[in-house]
Amino acid sequence: MELTRAEQVALVTGGGFWSTAAVERAGIPSVLIVDGPHGLRKQQHGGDHLGLGESVAATCFPPAAGLASSFNVDLVERVGRALGDEARAENVAVLLGPGVNIKRSPLCGRNFEYFSEDPHVSGELGAAWVRGIQSRGVGASLKHFAANNQETNRMTVSAEVDERTLREIYLPAFETIVTREQPWTVMCSYNKINGVFAAENRWLLTEVLREEWGFEGLVVSDWGAVDDRVAALDAGLDLEMPGPQASSEKHLLADADPQRLDESAARVAALARRVSAPTDGYDAAAHHALAREAATESIVLLRNENAVLPLTPDQSVAVIGEFARSPRFQGAGSSQVEATRVDSALDALAARAQVTFAPGHSNIAEAVELARNSDVALLFVGLPEGDESEGYDRQHLDLPPAQLELIAAVAAVNSRTVVVLTNGGVVSLEPWHDSVAAIVETWLLGQAGGGAIADVLLGSANPSGRLAETIPLRLQDNPSYLNFPGENDEVRYGEGVFVGYRYYESATVAVRYPFGHGLSYTTFSYSDMGVDATGVTVRVTNTGDRAGAEVVQLYVAAPAGPVRTPVRELRGFAKVRLEPGASATVRIALDDRSFSYYDVSTGAFEIAGGAYELQVARNAHEVVLRATVQRAASVTPGKLGLESRVSEWLLHPVTGPIFRRAAASTSDGLVEGGTSVLDMVGSMPMRRLLRIPGVPVTERQLRALAAVANVPIVRGVARLFSRKR
Ligand code: BGC
Repeated sequence: MELTRAEQVALVTGGGFWSTAAVERAGIPSVLIVDGPHGLRKQQHGGDHLGLGESVAATCFPPAAGLASSFNVDLVERVGRALGDEARAENVAVLLGPGVNIKRSPLCGRNFEYFSEDPHVSGELGAAWVRGIQSRGVGASLKHFAANNQETNRMTVSAEVDERTLREIYLPAFETIVTREQPWTVMCSYNKINGVFAAENRWLLTEVLREEWGFEGLVVSDWGAVDDRVAALDAGLDLEMPGPQASSEKHLLADADPQRLDESAARVAALARRVSAPTDGYDAAAHHALAREAATESIVLLRNENAVLPLTPDQSVAVIGEFARSPRFQGAGSSQVEATRVDSALDALAARAQVTFAPGHSNIAEAVELARNSDVALLFVGLPEGDESEGYDRQHLDLPPAQLELIAAVAAVNSRTVVVLTNGGVVSLEPWHDSVAAIVETWLLGQAGGGAIADVLLGSANPSGRLAETIPLRLQDNPSYLNFPGENDEVRYGEGVFVGYRYYESATVAVRYPFGHGLSYTTFSYSDMGVDATGVTVRVTNTGDRAGAEVVQLYVAAPAGPVRTPVRELRGFAKVRLEPGASATVRIALDDRSFSYYDVSTGAFEIAGGAYELQVARNAHEVVLRATVQRAASVTPGKLGLESRVSEWLLHPVTGPIFRRAAASTSDGLVEGGTSVLDMVGSMPMRRLLRIPGVPVTERQLRALAAVANVPIVRGVARLFSRKR
């Protein structure tokens, strides 16, 4: 049935705070689109996107910062499925997640909602989440597209990012998920990218998203991200939320391009028709159990001196800190969930061990006394609720001064002090790191975190989480430090692709704990690395006396090429669970992209030819096995001419060897005092070299040489020949 222009306009502007408009005449229902991402936030009375009003009870799973540390694709997919079941039972069509923005700075107030500083991890886990939820007939909304890596001035700031950095760091997670999973919707971000609002960015929403990646779903605005509705429609934004918007409707009625309006309205109608009937309900107890499993795998054991953990049954345990009794299990803002129930670590520990409790904050003397008289002190500290939220960024990485004081006081009287951290974004472990025996990073663990913490501390679960982001020694060491959060409404991504460990490892800057770090109660060894261009196999053995899981990490180190690349980049990972003494062979696949950089001159991902080192590592800093593979260059050298630089003639597979040989035979003239004259004039265009008196080559000779060198087949043969040698 043909829709009228007014009906089309109504469809693309949203029907309510959390719903699309219906066109009953045409059988198009209104459907619900709600937050997301780690639980359902369905509001029944009034709407707000700041986490303020009430919503229906739902399972609160660990937010992405925690979930990412699991490095467990299958687990994340199962969480996605459970979220889908809850959404379906509540008649929700689309859940607003996952958030796959890169953690450019540890200060981003919303880092708890994002997975990682690494695009591969964000892409793989985000894809699993989308696969899970969409398998239940509920749509995902991949957000926030793109370069939304801070909250400061998020509605006006322009992220100034060069294209290579966008393509290699900030877009790949979106690309992976779109090309592999076809999320029902993609949410554009509030910010500008290189001066153009995401909502009005045709390059982003149409050229990259639809034309290059083949996105078939619907582009929705972040809530309130649209400024100029007609420009947004032209750029490729289909649905503006929330609605209805009288002024947008007026402008669209007057000025919308009919074809674009037609397409966007059809996409909203298609989304509405895609929705399946609601189910009767879901198994809340089973979801709580899954939330506990997810929380357990999200916990990262950072430090464990003298195997102080796990606790033994005979030990008396002082539990100190309000977080143990009143857990902070999620962040603030649009993702805030009304949990079906909340488990505290204190209750979970008290049920299984001899514990005494002191809140710590009000009476340090009481806490110190308790710690002094107990075998072990468990110190629950972390970031207060107001420190991290959607809408603003953090100013520093430190724990509150009162907590630092508490750590110092307790550690001074009990050598078995275990710090249990609660925080969405990374916190500094300085200056107290060395004074405590163990540190357990629990992030924000969702509603079942209390039981998970008890399982890990008591050893009924073996910790298997790994850091999906670096813990630096100082905020100032972070590569974005001088360019965050920007000025005059612009933030320059001056560190380029050197984000997180890509920078720390390349610049050899010491960190407290590298990306990928995490301890276990058992140990693992690696052997028998096998390699070919399609992947790596490696044998992993549990060499300790407990069952446990290891996260095998595969990094690729590129040879020197036309662009500067990080010393290593994660290109694959796999989590493997092993009984004591058991081994398994793990295979991690690689593809051409694993060896590529984005070449701005060809506008494509290219491989620089040469030897690539494949590195199996425990974390971004600790490589255990290495092997090398050769890859041929994918870029054909540019055509040689008299305007080409001498260095280009020297690098060329046909002319390079000829020049070098000629230079070697007249070495007296071309090497002076150990300096190669050819290299010294490398940046000179050949035409100008010819003007220098005495240069032993003529323009005619060069033209003839270039004519041969520019024949593709000659170049190909020459490349083959130079590789073999
Ligand atoms: C957030 C989105 C969220 C939306 C709806 C915005 O403020 O940036 O992540 O999905 O509100 O609540």
